[in-house]
Amino acid sequence: MLWIKAFHIIAMVCWFAGLFYLPRLFVYHASTEDQAGKDRFHIMERKLYRGIMNPSMMVTVILGLAMLIPNWEFYKSMGWMHVKLTLVAILIGYHIYCGKLMRRFATDDNHKSHVFYRWFNEFPVLILLGVVILVVVRPF
Ligand code: HEM
Repeated sequence: MLWIKAFHIIAMVCWFAGLFYLPRLFVYHASTEDQAGKDRFHIMERKLYRGIMNPSMMVTVILGLAMLIPNWEFYKSMGWMHVKLTLVAILIGYHIYCGKLMRRFATDDNHKSHVFYRWFNEFPVLILLGVVILVVVRPF
């Protein structure tokens, strides 16, 4: 369980590195005018999303479930775990939406401003604050 937990946290850190960096790339991509610059951003975004974010999300979820399922009787009465799982589901939705935005950039179909992406970039910070406080403090 401790080994699984250690790798769950390592994968979560890698996932968040991407969740913070990809929307930052969108900020710069949205302000880029020249085609060579846009193409370069698209390659960086695709490699980050497919090479880092997708695998680390999968490892985080698989290792999380590997701890959760055998101990479900223990966790099911804990309110903080239910709220954590809800926040994680929202985060997976954010991750999928990032993939959709990336594909729009690939076809030069972005209609959102760099200011939008600056705010969009803050969302995973809120989820991180919420989840870490829930799992460590366990307020309810
Ligand atoms: C479907 C996804 C996930 C599942 C099923 C899951 C499940 C679990 C379980 C069962 C534990 C062990 C709790 C204990 O110590 O009793 C754990 C620990 C932890 N999880 Fe997750 N988790 C998931 C996603 C995440 C995400 C996205 C984050 C970060 C935002 C996260 C952060 C942590 C941390 C920091 C711990 C260590 C808590 C501690 O023992 O101090 N987990 N997770």
